[in-house]
Parts: sequence; C-alpha cells; structure tokens
Amino acid sequence: MKGTMPRAEKILSRINELASISEAPKGITRRYGTAAAVEAGEKVQEWMRAAGLQVRVDAIGNIRGIWKAESAGAGRLVIASHIDTVMDAGRWDGPLGVVMGLDLLEHIIGSGGRLPFDIELIAFCDEEGVRFHTTYLGSKVVAGRFERDMLDRKDAEGVSLREAIGMIGGKAEELEEDAIPSEQWLGYFEIHIEQGPVLYEKKAPVALVKGIAGQVRAEVVFSGMAGHAGTVPMEMRNDALCGAAEFILAAEELAGRAGSGLVATVGKLQIANAASNVIPGEVVCSVDIRSADEGVLSQGHLQLRALCESIGGKRGLAVQWKVVQASSPVACDARMNELLGKSIRGAGYEMVELVSGAGHDAVPISAVSPVCMMFVRCYEGISHHPQEHVETEDLAAAIVVADEFIHQLSEIWKYPL
Ligand code: GLV
Ligand code: MN
Ligand code: MN
Repeated sequence: MKGTMPRAEKILSRINELASISEAPKGITRRYGTAAAVEAGEKVQEWMRAAGLQVRVDAIGNIRGIWKAESAGAGRLVIASHIDTVMDAGRWDGPLGVVMGLDLLEHIIGSGGRLPFDIELIAFCDEEGVRFHTTYLGSKVVAGRFERDMLDRKDAEGVSLREAIGMIGGKAEELEEDAIPSEQWLGYFEIHIEQGPVLYEKKAPVALVKGIAGQVRAEVVFSGMAGHAGTVPMEMRNDALCGAAEFILAAEELAGRAGSGLVATVGKLQIANAASNVIPGEVVCSVDIRSADEGVLSQGHLQLRALCESIGGKRGLAVQWKVVQASSPVACDARMNELLGKSIRGAGYEMVELVSGAGHDAVPISAVSPVCMMFVRCYEGISHHPQEHVETEDLAAAIVVADEFIHQLSEIWKYPL
C-alpha cells in the first residue's frame, strides 16, 4: 500500500482542483450545463489528454477518453462516474470514480501495458439530476436509454433541457449516436464513496456493492384555497401547507416502521405565493422512495400515494401525484463481483458487502452491461454535505484493490470478442 501513497496524493490533489470549480463563490455546486460544469469537464479532458487517451465530448456533454486494446476489435470496459454535484455538495461524490479511473489508466499506460480490451473512462455530466429533476442523463445516453421526452423538461428559469444541451455545444438530435453498441460492452466498473456509515463503523476501507436500491421519485401538488391569515376561521380553511406537513410526517412514520425496508424523503417544498399573512393555497413537494426490494418499493409507493390522497380528501385539498422517475433495484454482476471480492481479500482487507441506498450511474448501464461497483469509506458516512471526506490511506487501499481487479479482468477477457 505504501507504493500507492503518491498516487493517492495525486488523486486528492485532483479532487481538490475540481472542488475549486463551482457555480457559487462559497461551497461546491456544479449542476448540469452550467459554466462550472463545463469548466470541470475541460479540466478532466486536459488530464485525460495528458494521460494519452483519445478524448471527446459527446452530444450531451459527457467527457470520454479511450485507451485502446493491443488488438483491434476488442470489447470495452467502461470505468466511470459523474462530475456534476448537488447544491453545496461534498468534493468526493462522483469525482472520486473519475479521478481514480484516470489514475488506474495512467498506471497501466505508465507500465507500458496494453490490455486485451479497450478501456473507456467517462466523466458523466449529470447523475444528480438537480437542475432538470432527471437523474442519470449522461449514463442514459451511453446506455442508449435516453428518453427523448426529457428534452422538454424545464429548469427553474424556464430553460429546457434541449436548450441547455445546445448552450454547452451539445447536439440534442444526435444523442442516440453516442450509445455504446451492445456487442462492445464487456463490463462497467464504478468506484464511489459509500455515502453511509457502514465502512466507517466497521473500520474497513472498501466494500463490494452487491446491488443498488430501486427508487421512485414523484412530484406532489396539494391544491387548497389561499386566503387571509387573519380573517378565515381555522375550521374553514383548506391550507395546502398543512396537508403537505401532515403527509411528510405520515410518510416518515410509514417508512420508519421497524423492518419496512423502505426509506422515504420529502426534500423539496415550494409554497406558491408564500407570504406570512396568506394561507398557503398551493404546495408542490418532492417525494423520494427507495428500497432494495422491488415488491417493498412498489407497495411502499402505492401506500404513500394512498396516504397522500386520504390526507387531501380529509382536508378538502386536491392532490396530484406525478411519478417523475423510477428505477428498479439492480443486482451487480456475479462474475465481476467474484473477481472484485478476490481482489479485496487478496489485498488483505475485510470483505464487506453492501447494497447501495444511493443511486449510481451503474443503474441505467445495468440494462446493457454487467456492472460492478466498489465503495470507499467516507468519514462518518457523511455525504451530500460539504464535510464529505475520504482519508488518503483509504485511497491508497482502493488503488491496490482496483489495480488487482483490472489485472483479474484482463485474465478472463484475454481473447477478443
Ligand atoms: C444520488 O446521489 C442519489 O442517490 O440521489
Ligand atoms: Mn450524489
Ligand atoms: Mn454519486
């Protein structure tokens, strides 16, 4: 592990360099299509080119660098993660997988190595979905799973996704051309921080990801009657915010029941024409529901929706429930997991297996390729927060495991497709 410390330090310095690129003067925010996101992409391109990769920006704005195999016609391993962020984010969620992938390739290239497969390193342009409420925009394009109706989605300023793609020099009409043809996929490998506390509690640096929870995201509109805060008697009100508040607590209670296997979060609330002296007439809220079990997820979704409608009925509020995104739970590939597990044990680390509650670009890619993920411990499991932190020793440990994993893959994918 000692030998990998200089590589770990270089990864850290690149993470810090990306963290200095932000939409806001304070903190880290890089939403899809903003000048900060473009600048971060340019930085990644510069590093990829210096490493010797063939680099291009695809039609939606993913940064893609290829290292070709020793012989033509080989299949492709994709190593990837995202460089967009949530608002006021940490520095590791996303960039870690890109910067570590770059380090792996630099190491292979620096050792004079050619592999029996192409490696494509991708920095996805939108995984978080903050700007258009559409996660995985970048990886959906690569998987050939982009849904064209998403192009009409608008951000808070009324700019459509189609326009945003054009503004960064992308080509909304050519998105389909950037999918990797199905016959070329060998596998997909994503390195990501855990974003939870298990590795921190277990004192282990890395984990194998067995699968990724499914999720349903809905937008809910409660419509009541706006009115004067001083004159309408309490029993005569149809207060949309009170309905939303009751729903939020009821959702917490339902998902929080012991052993439910469900998590539910209302993370966003918009009160129309909010004022301290106006009874709220309309409230829009987001609902994010997740479970690793498909049955639990769909039942939880139905129950929460019914709960919402019954609260609306009781309070004289109209309720609209619109699903804006849904993905089923994903199982990571058994064969790739076996090799990753072997690499973790071979490096002398405890083999921790986890199911990811967070969504990852591996989700859309799993429709077209075997996928595999490695988690790296983060401090106290803190994520989506400026205090997100990874120890340099854990980066060094992850490098040892990842080097060995690539070696293991080169043993099983020795022959061209
Ligand atoms: C992405 O970070 C998600 O799981 O929402
Ligand atoms: Mn995230
Ligand atoms: Mn992420």
